Amino acid sequence: MKVSEIRQKFLQFFQSQGHTIVPSSSLVPGNDPTLLFTNSGMVQFKDVFTGKESRPYRRATSAQRSVRAGGKHNDLENVGYTARHHTFFEMLGNFSFGDYFKHDAIRYAWELLTKVYQLPAEKLWVTVYQEDDEAYDIWAKEVGVPAERIIRIGDNKGARYASDNFWQMAETGPCGPCTEIFFDHGPDVWGGPPGSPEEDGDRYIEVWNLVFMQFERDASGTLTPLPKPCVDTGMGLERIAAVLQGVHSNYEIDLFQKLIAAASRETGCQDLHENSLKVIADHIRACAFLIVDGVIPSNEGRGYVLRRIVRRALRHGYKLGQSKPFFHRLVPDLVQEMGAAYPELEQAASRVAQVLKQEEERFGETLEHGMKILEAALSKVEQGGRVEGTTLFTLYDTYGFPVDLTADICRERGVEVDLDGFETAMDRQREQARAAGKFKAAEGLSYDGVQTRFDGYDTLSGDARVVALYVGGTAAQTVQAGQEAIVVLDATPFYAESGGQVGDAGVLQADGVRFVVNDTQKIQAGVFGHHGVLESGTLSVGDSLAAQVDVERRARTVRNHSATHLMHKALREVLGGHVQQRGSLVDPDKTRFDFAHDAPMTADQIAEVERIVNAEVLANAPVQARVMAFDDAVQEGAMALFGEKYGDSVRVLDIGSSRELCGGTHVVRTGDIGLFKIVGEGGVAAGVRRVEAITGDNALKWVQNLNATLVRAAGALKTQPAELPERIAQVQEQVRALEKDLEQARAKLAASAGNDLAASAAVDLGGAKLLAAVVKDVDPKALRGMVDQIKDRLKPAVVLLAAGGPDGKISVVGGVTPELVGRVKAGELVGHVAGQIGGKGGGRPDMAMGGGVDLAALPAAVDSVRQWVQERL
Ligand code: ALA
Repeated sequence: MKVSEIRQKFLQFFQSQGHTIVPSSSLVPGNDPTLLFTNSGMVQFKDVFTGKESRPYRRATSAQRSVRAGGKHNDLENVGYTARHHTFFEMLGNFSFGDYFKHDAIRYAWELLTKVYQLPAEKLWVTVYQEDDEAYDIWAKEVGVPAERIIRIGDNKGARYASDNFWQMAETGPCGPCTEIFFDHGPDVWGGPPGSPEEDGDRYIEVWNLVFMQFERDASGTLTPLPKPCVDTGMGLERIAAVLQGVHSNYEIDLFQKLIAAASRETGCQDLHENSLKVIADHIRACAFLIVDGVIPSNEGRGYVLRRIVRRALRHGYKLGQSKPFFHRLVPDLVQEMGAAYPELEQAASRVAQVLKQEEERFGETLEHGMKILEAALSKVEQGGRVEGTTLFTLYDTYGFPVDLTADICRERGVEVDLDGFETAMDRQREQARAAGKFKAAEGLSYDGVQTRFDGYDTLSGDARVVALYVGGTAAQTVQAGQEAIVVLDATPFYAESGGQVGDAGVLQADGVRFVVNDTQKIQAGVFGHHGVLESGTLSVGDSLAAQVDVERRARTVRNHSATHLMHKALREVLGGHVQQRGSLVDPDKTRFDFAHDAPMTADQIAEVERIVNAEVLANAPVQARVMAFDDAVQEGAMALFGEKYGDSVRVLDIGSSRELCGGTHVVRTGDIGLFKIVGEGGVAAGVRRVEAITGDNALKWVQNLNATLVRAAGALKTQPAELPERIAQVQEQVRALEKDLEQARAKLAASAGNDLAASAAVDLGGAKLLAAVVKDVDPKALRGMVDQIKDRLKPAVVLLAAGGPDGKISVVGGVTPELVGRVKAGELVGHVAGQIGGKGGGRPDMAMGGGVDLAALPAAVDSVRQWVQERL
């Protein structure tokens, strides 16, 4: 049974039992910023289990793409060396949301395995949680599994509920006891049943985990019963395929055999058992699907995990002798194998290949050099010795070798790596980067006073005391009029740049003292520096000042910031959940928002996003900010940026229907945003788009300018703006007609000029006429027509005309009538003339064209034609 059939039969079986087939969700979890990647089928249903979200169905089934690399579940290092580890795998699952429970879950699983997949019952073993008598009895009495093949597993991991048979999604969240089904691969394979000392062997392999979701675990470890008991099951597709295809290793199933063959083709490695081919076959799946889901290789977060997987694959290719980009060429093979089940893969295939190719080219340049450095280091290390942290660091920093990649190579050679030394070198570099940054930004100014109290969420003015001053990068006691300085206050309404929102501007004043703030930046975490110029008076540490934020500038900025949240939400609605923020800049003029998405937005999509945001504006809902614990915020579904560092308590911002974590300043009601308009959309990197949008008075001004331009254009064309397109079409039609007329008129003119020339300037060379002349204001096309005509009129004849164009280029056309082409070749003639005016020419014996640039040499060149022709006649 092929993999595709196994997947299909699973979904169909559960569909026939009243389950809705739900498509696989993205590898980037939409509802859980704490999770790196979707790592099992239940992730997309997490909130349904806890009752926070409801769906139109109570039974669901899915084949979920999953990644276990980086983060808590990390199998990356093992891939290629074991029969069953993958970075990417598919999990088949069935789910009950408060519908059926243990009886049916077990009954369905047994029926599918023994009836549909027709596995021999005597090869199946099961485990249950020690205390779960109910599950034990169902297996023993209802299904009839003999007692010696039902094993109870208790809290075998050192704590209450820490058990192989008690499944929890994470430290917190839904959890419950589980029952697992094992397949016995037979006595030829080493290993013992679950719970035995030999359980880690490969003989008894877990194929299906049925979790009875009963509790929700909170951070204190307390279990509270779920509103309704649920079922969550997971069966690794690759594992069950190995069982059903009678093979022992997942890499021997049909799908992997195809991918391994493709890897062999691209690397030239003929030995299909080579571990590196397995690594490549595994990694192309993870990499391709991560890119499909909007992840891009980068140096942080999810992007870095992707980069590590790609580089690991490339290194294995290199090991097999392939040093050219090859990895991206496996994409079509993958589409062939998995495109039918995952249409999103097929759609994104060319982008996936392009992103991979770019990444291959980028790493390819340094892979070879890095390998040489590493080989040199390895040659100095004994077996069992170790490679120093400084070498690991050089490889990482200069050659882009992720440290786990270097460790992987060292492990193959039986050599350890000095990870502590690597960390030390990393720390040193961070320190240096900080020190180097001192002069550029104000960060790092020496300061050990109090943190600034920020009052600017509620007010734009207030009294404050100067606690520090800096002039020219060093601390000062006093600032004189005319000096540029940075002022630190004990409290301030000025917002310091962060989270994409620019810092405030405004003034700090006292009697006779006026300091104009043009920017606010943190000089340290929690310490705000007001950058600007002291216009009048003297300012000293300890002085009291009245701080006043530029109200208009702040108002514009907050409109753009609040609009960004609404736009982010709308983009996800219109383009899909894969849209994730990649960067943003919010200032008084605009919001600029970068996000992961494959294709340019269509005009309709842009209009739809504008419509949604403006509808939220018109709803004029109050904006609410609450400070709460990070975990509570996530529980409430706030959108957070993965990889961003959030403190223990965070600010949750509700703007219309959007809920995000954000420390920025915002409007009071959505209506304050005014008109929202997208004014730009474009690409910034592979898979990353950028939109620019404006709000409030900026948007009004933009619309007014556009309108004024339209009115002007319409006025110039003597019509109304609404009629412009038709009018422009008319004018274009007229221009085309005029151009045609002009061309005809020119041709006529040229013809009559030709006639005149033929009559006046042709010379008789005895049996043939010659006309060689310079004409004025004739374009090359017309010149050719002229030559043809004169030829006809004078035949037998040789004709050569030259004309200087307005751009300083000279055209030369030569023609010879058929009787003479045996002796005089037009191509040669034109070549002869063009050669004298700094150009070239050529063509057929009867008609040739050429050009040149030297106008001064033209008369002599044309004069020389007569003798040249005479010599040949
Ligand atoms: N969520 C369960 C697992 O991943 C089924 O094993």
